[in-house]
Amino acid sequence: MKVCQEEQPSMKASLADIRAPIAEHLPVFEKRFEEAVKSKVPLLDKVMYYVVRRKGKQVRPMFVFLCAQLSGAVSEATHRGAALVELMHTASLIHDDVVDDADERRGFFSVNAIWKNKIAVLVGDYLLSKGLLLSVEHGDFDMLRLLSKAVREMSEGELLQIERSRQLNFDESVYYDIIRQKTASLIASACAIGHASNPDATKESTERMWTLGETIGIAFQIRDDLFDLGEKDVGKPRGIDIKEKKLTLPLIHTLNKLPKRERQYFVNIIKNHNTDKRKVAEVIKAVWDNGGIDYARQAMFEYRDKALEMLQAYQPSPSRNSLEQLIHYTINREK
Ligand code: IPE
Ligand code: IPE
Ligand code: MG
Ligand code: MG
Repeated sequence: MKVCQEEQPSMKASLADIRAPIAEHLPVFEKRFEEAVKSKVPLLDKVMYYVVRRKGKQVRPMFVFLCAQLSGAVSEATHRGAALVELMHTASLIHDDVVDDADERRGFFSVNAIWKNKIAVLVGDYLLSKGLLLSVEHGDFDMLRLLSKAVREMSEGELLQIERSRQLNFDESVYYDIIRQKTASLIASACAIGHASNPDATKESTERMWTLGETIGIAFQIRDDLFDLGEKDVGKPRGIDIKEKKLTLPLIHTLNKLPKRERQYFVNIIKNHNTDKRKVAEVIKAVWDNGGIDYARQAMFEYRDKALEMLQAYQPSPSRNSLEQLIHYTINREK
């Protein structure tokens, strides 16, 4: 495998710097997002209040705005697109924490940890419906088509992941299929929706933006999978991928590399002792000792480089510059 370049300090711009070309749009976005999730049902409103206060990094709306500006301008439609994508993202996290049985999100208790699974499932559905209504009410059918494709792929990706974790499949290509579907598709839709909010967007130009976002999204999920095996607090549980029998790239590489007996030893832990903290720590140590982390980092750099190359096809501008920095941020981020 080709060795890709490590990140230099000059590639580590902060989110605040990256936001500069779209700084005026983000507070408007936040206000609208907050408005969009309000409900007259008291319990729903209480949960929404909790969710809105614990906001995430909001990188997907940033992709929407920056991609809109890359070859056009931010409009009302762009704003609706940004809200649509973040609503779907929020819904998917609330559902994902039920699926993964995770009790922490964004440094606080997850919705399911406080209100239990039943309420978390319904709250996720509510957010999903709010996104759909926002688009339907304004006739944003092109954006809705892009988003619906992403949501379909996300569901398929999460289901494929469950299916493959039951079979303990160590195939790298299956791993890439899963992360492309469950994570990269939504980042792809963010880029495509931003672009499609411009009146002169074509099917072809929108598809190119989708591919760019998808490439960034794959790097994004590899970074996320590395968090799970790391030592730093990232505001959500760590070590749970093994508990859920999720085979991520560092682990797949390690298992494929180890001699048969050792592999069987670790597979047995993943299958039968995945709730034993000491044993899971042994698996994580083996991943580190056998170069699994470095291997996944190299793969992540390859996707970063592919994305940076694709971006070069666009006219230089402050938005292109920020997108470039956002690609670096995707793989450098600490949470
Ligand atoms: C988390 O996404 C889910 C993944 C696809 C890995 P983010 O890391 O963007 O989550 P927030 O919105 O900033 O919390
Ligand atoms: C991405 O996978 C989840 C979604 C597609 C919603 P993870 O399960 O690894 O995401 P985190 O780590 O819980 O944020
Ligand atoms: Mg999860
Ligand atoms: Mg994860």
